[in-house]
Amino acid sequence: MRTQVAIIGAGPAGLMLGRLLEQAGIDSVILERKSAEYVLSRIRAGVLEQGSVDMLRNAGVGARMDVEGIPHQGIELSYDGKNQRIDFMERIGQQVMVYGQTEVTHDLMDVRNASGAVTIYEAEDVALHDFDSPHPRVTWRKDGVAQELTCDFIAGCDGYHGVSRASVPAQAVKTFERVYPFGWLGVLVDQPPVSDELIYAHHERGFALCSMRSHTRSRYYVQVGADEKVENWSDERFWDELRSRLNPDTAEAMKIGASIEKSIAPLRSFVAEPLRFGSLFLAGDAAHIVPPTGAKGLNLAMSDVKALGAAMIEYYGERSPAAIDDYSNKVLQRIWKAERFSWWMTSMMHVFPESGTFGLRIQQAEFNYLAGSVAAQQSLSENYCGLPD
Ligand code: APR
Ligand code: PHB
Repeated sequence: MRTQVAIIGAGPAGLMLGRLLEQAGIDSVILERKSAEYVLSRIRAGVLEQGSVDMLRNAGVGARMDVEGIPHQGIELSYDGKNQRIDFMERIGQQVMVYGQTEVTHDLMDVRNASGAVTIYEAEDVALHDFDSPHPRVTWRKDGVAQELTCDFIAGCDGYHGVSRASVPAQAVKTFERVYPFGWLGVLVDQPPVSDELIYAHHERGFALCSMRSHTRSRYYVQVGADEKVENWSDERFWDELRSRLNPDTAEAMKIGASIEKSIAPLRSFVAEPLRFGSLFLAGDAAHIVPPTGAKGLNLAMSDVKALGAAMIEYYGERSPAAIDDYSNKVLQRIWKAERFSWWMTSMMHVFPESGTFGLRIQQAEFNYLAGSVAAQQSLSENYCGLPD
């Protein structure tokens, strides 16, 4: 088989890149290790920056988002029960869209299926070859039968644990990493959200987040120890813990119910450099991980593939390698700014056992500064709503 761009991974990065290329008449094949049903069963984040919203609309996949998504013009921060609203619209004239990553993936899959472009699910043992040359290849097995694809470029959109970054010789890639000593225990529940806006709460018992997927479905999180096991968390224990970390009025108003999903995610900051190795390009979680506190993961993946798609379109259209040569440098600038913001928001909102009472006072001062400073609120707002490309 032959294509122009082999895309590894059918998460939001791979599917969106495939769509951008298809709109420009460039052929791609997507190879995905799991089934489509499995990919759609993963519960991920749910906040889209304006830039991601615009990309989905321009890609012709914004219709359901425009009906079902919920625009949010601010967030609530809660510090030991005291609430402070950050008004994005007032501070910087922008908003975000609450619309689940699972839905984004669903919409992108639907448009790809309708276009007739090839996606191979349940591709086993995907392997990358000869990407140090202009004639790279990808091999895999499907239903036990060996397959091969030749192409011009490989886009590694296969997430943090994927094969693409792992195929690069260790001496060719530099990695930067911070692993946080805690995770988030998340619960999905069919109950209306406790508040119209997201609440990010710092409490001496740990961080909590009240989020949502719709007007009838809520997503809640509590900070837990890195070794915590989900089996140890009955629904009752989760609701008690969550309510203990919120201000009493919010705790009182919360509607609880049986969880429909419950899982623990570790928190990590990670960046690989560079993001191009000959004919191989990394994008999305394959290239970087952010802790979920600033809701940047999906948005960063979108801005990576916007740049990568545009670079490949320029290559095929004008036969100019300038933009593909610039891809890594260009996107790493934005990636590091989002890494900084996600690290900062994580540092302010969580309990770090090792930083002691000094650390707590610094967090309190950070919160008080935000509460009293328009400049600080503008800074949070512009980072949360998304910095320009
Ligand atoms: N071969 C083929 N596909 C693979 C392989 C492999 N060896 N390894 C992983 N994959 C697939 C995964 O099954 C997954 O469907 O690659 C896909 C990667 O998708 P995501 O993990 O969703 O990553 P990405 O598309 O970069 O999306 C960015 O935003 O909210 C954040 O972390 C969250 O997933 C999110 C991310
Ligand atoms: C979510 O709804 O899952 C969510 C929202 C905001 C975050 C992280 C996760 O910062």
